[in-house]
Amino acid sequence: MSLLHLLLLTLPLLISVSGSKFSGRPGINYGQLGNNLPTPSDSIKLIQSLNAKRVKLYDANPKILTALNSTDISVSVMVPNELIINISKSNTLSDEWVKSKILPFYPTTKIRYLLVGNEILSSQNSQLKSSLVPAMRKIQRSLKTLGVKKIKVGTTLAVDVLQTSFPPSSGEFRSDISGSVMKPMLQFLNRTKSFLFVDVYPYFAWVQDPTHVDLNYALFESENVTVLDPVTNLTYHNLFDQMIDAFVFAMKRIGYSDLRIWVAETGWPNNGDYDQIGANIYNAATYNRNVVKKLTAEPPIGTPARPGLVLPSFIFALYNENQKTGPGTERHFGLLHPNGSQVYEIELSGKTTEFKDSLPAPENNELYKGKIWCVVAKGANWTQLRDALSYACSQGNNTCEPIQTGGLCHKPDLTVLHASYAFSSYWAQFRKTGGTCSFNGLATQTIKDPSYGRCEFPSVTL
Ligand SMILES: *[C@@H]1O[C@H](CO)[C@@H](O)[C@H](O)[C@H]1NC(C)=O
Ligand SMILES: *[C@@H]1O[C@H](CO)[C@@H](O)[C@H](O)[C@H]1NC(C)=O
Ligand SMILES: *[C@@H]1O[C@H](CO)[C@@H](O)[C@H](O)[C@H]1NC(C)=O
Ligand SMILES: *[C@@H]1O[C@H](CO)[C@@H](O)[C@H](O)[C@H]1NC(C)=O
Ligand SMILES: *[C@@H]1O[C@H](CO)[C@@H](O)[C@H](O)[C@H]1NC(C)=O
Ligand SMILES: *[C@@H]1O[C@H](CO)[C@@H](O)[C@H](O)[C@H]1NC(C)=O
Ligand SMILES: *[C@@H]1O[C@H](CO)[C@@H](O)[C@H](O)[C@H]1NC(C)=O
Ligand SMILES: *[C@@H]1O[C@H](CO)[C@@H](O)[C@H](O)[C@H]1NC(C)=O
Repeated sequence: MSLLHLLLLTLPLLISVSGSKFSGRPGINYGQLGNNLPTPSDSIKLIQSLNAKRVKLYDANPKILTALNSTDISVSVMVPNELIINISKSNTLSDEWVKSKILPFYPTTKIRYLLVGNEILSSQNSQLKSSLVPAMRKIQRSLKTLGVKKIKVGTTLAVDVLQTSFPPSSGEFRSDISGSVMKPMLQFLNRTKSFLFVDVYPYFAWVQDPTHVDLNYALFESENVTVLDPVTNLTYHNLFDQMIDAFVFAMKRIGYSDLRIWVAETGWPNNGDYDQIGANIYNAATYNRNVVKKLTAEPPIGTPARPGLVLPSFIFALYNENQKTGPGTERHFGLLHPNGSQVYEIELSGKTTEFKDSLPAPENNELYKGKIWCVVAKGANWTQLRDALSYACSQGNNTCEPIQTGGLCHKPDLTVLHASYAFSSYWAQFRKTGGTCSFNGLATQTIKDPSYGRCEFPSVTL
């Protein structure tokens, strides 16, 4: 048989093998920052009902790893950020972590990826950043020593590791990490045949500049809006591809043009605050359905810089998580409500192409204009509320004067009202310097003026 025949015969085989190994069907991020979430075993059933075959955890929770035992779901677990510096310095500690967190469940729980820390390179802590690659090497060494063969080591990166990302061909890692961290990391990932795990959110890129970035370009809804990269002449039809290719070119710039990319997180919030735009069920459903369609397409689509390549991914996230801090969008990335019902129809196999639910029209694609107040959220815990109230009152200038005895807003025994006043007063002073209306989930924004009588609540005006 000629060489050409051999090639022709073996090629389709190779493709189908790698195709089944790295299916484009997205997995799901199972975050647990909620006090009202289903049990691990119920969560696994929900993950299966979404047709997900991969799950990513933010720790190595033994209850979840037990619930995943003997399922066909492949699992990505995480070494917590707090342990990275110590693990980077100690073979013993690294061995201990793998022995106690992984070995009890491996291989009957299909653990396949071990992510060392979450978005470590977005930290300000330079010791932590410089410990990252050494910690990855330690964990890799422990897996090898302990005879674990099927687990690859990686770490997740946010887009802020790039100092330039547009046009994609100009993609470049930040100078503080490029030579010192990224180069050795890419060498490690290449040597171990692992992936560059990146968190890619067109939502945040669009929100930062909605006048220049087309919403439909961010939502995969515009074949006709295209962005040309003048250096490569590659044409982009969506923001997701554009962001991923910035990583491709950043890697190429420092000598690693073939390293595979894994999208560790992508998603769109289904709700948020009045001072944010575009976070609604319509956009979230559109984005996530289109992502699934793109990623599961056969043959694979890839990106303009890497056409035809499977792009393994995890969607963020399984649940709306009520204890996440920061703006309201953070608590609304879920495909599911905490009671397990879907926020909108969705499944991850890509087999469903027609969805029957009628999505509510998007109401906040443009910025709300008017006053906003920050008040106590429904169901807030009283003990925590008292603490938050005294914290808010201890900040800023005369933040709580009107609710003191004799003040215009004082109402004896109405802690909730006082807390709402304190939150509004705090937020009105600190929003411009980055203060949020959150208080660990105890506060929420409202456009309904909570003022009463002669007591006027401070507000934020957009
Ligand atoms: C890291 O090691 C130091 C020194 O042994 C110890 O004091 C510290 O508690 C360790 N940190 C963690 C998160 O285990
Ligand atoms: C996982 O399931 C197998 C049976 O399929 C059982 O033998 C094993 O003890 C289980 N492991 C854990 C950690 O529960
Ligand atoms: C990446 O790994 C492959 C082997 O898997 C090797 O041939 C190649 O030289 C490596 N690339 C770099 C830039 O080190
Ligand atoms: C895109 O452009 C083509 C050709 O100009 C046109 O036929 C089509 O209707 C456009 N699609 C959308 C969604 O605007
Ligand atoms: C891009 O297109 C321009 C104009 O057609 C051409 O001059 C240039 O060589 C092209 N660049 C690449 C990298 O193909
Ligand atoms: C689940 O929670 C959502 C949001 O709170 C609610 O709209 C829905 O009716 C609930 N579903 C069930 C079955 O309780
Ligand atoms: C309220 O918060 C306190 C302090 O965090 C906690 O001890 C208590 O269990 C919470 N109460 C309820 C009803 O959740
Ligand atoms: C409090 O007042 C001082 C002096 O007027 C001012 O410099 C400072 O910015 C104020 N603080 C806030 C949070 O507005």
